[in-house]
Amino acid sequence: MTSSPRLINALAVSELLAQDHDVIRVGHTQGDATVDIHDKASIEVLFAKIDALVVATGNVAFNSVTQMSDEGWQVGLNSKLMGQINLTRAAIPYLNEKGSITLTSGILSDESINWGTSASTINGAVEHFVKAAACELPKGLRINVVSPTLLEESVPKYGVFFPGFVPVPGATVAQAYKKSVQGVQTGQIFKVFG
Ligand SMILES: NC(=O)c1ccc[n+]([C@@H]2O[C@H](COP(=O)([O-])OP(=O)(O)OC[C@H]3O[C@@H](n4cnc5c(N)ncnc54)[C@H](OP(=O)(O)O)[C@@H]3O)[C@@H](O)[C@H]2O)c1
Repeated sequence: MTSSPRLINALAVSELLAQDHDVIRVGHTQGDATVDIHDKASIEVLFAKIDALVVATGNVAFNSVTQMSDEGWQVGLNSKLMGQINLTRAAIPYLNEKGSITLTSGILSDESINWGTSASTINGAVEHFVKAAACELPKGLRINVVSPTLLEESVPKYGVFFPGFVPVPGATVAQAYKKSVQGVQTGQIFKVFG
């Protein structure tokens, strides 16, 4: 997995957390297990007893607000929003007492870019879900969301869309996931902006 050009965020997170935890890496096409976050049935067979769920996935479509199609809007709704919500819902019975859930949003919930309306909308919705769900989770479970700016590793792919944004290394972003997993806070948005 370490040579994959994908998994930008997930790779840095799993490498850091593996120093202290037994990490089960779950991808779409590769990993210790695979899942399709669009498919609730595939999510439900995923879990065994765990202490923490960390989600660093979710797609959104980028297009102008006037050009985005219905299908484009559904990408973010089905993948980054409902994919993370459905993973959270499915994991709750399998999480040990005082376990944690960490989801991923992104800087576009705070700042806007061209073609970023769907991403901004979805990231904001993920953050609102986390704040509300934190009030209701059973078993002393905690839930937080990490909001990274553009990762340095993603500059070749997305840098042109983020003029003037200062990228941060994936290893720095990974520390926010560690804070969520190993810390005490809940209902928080851990922003990692450059
Ligand atoms: N990269 C950045 O600069 C940046 C900045 C802010 C926020 N984010 C957010 O961080 C998250 C990850 O972004 P990334 O750039 O790291 O993406 P990435 O490199 O493309 O990695 C995506 C990960 O998601 C998995 N995946 C894709 N489709 C899936 C599906 N249908 N079901 C289950 N898993 C699936 C992939 O698994 P396989 O490899 O097995 O297909 C891979 O592990 C996203 O929510 C993104 O918006 C990223």
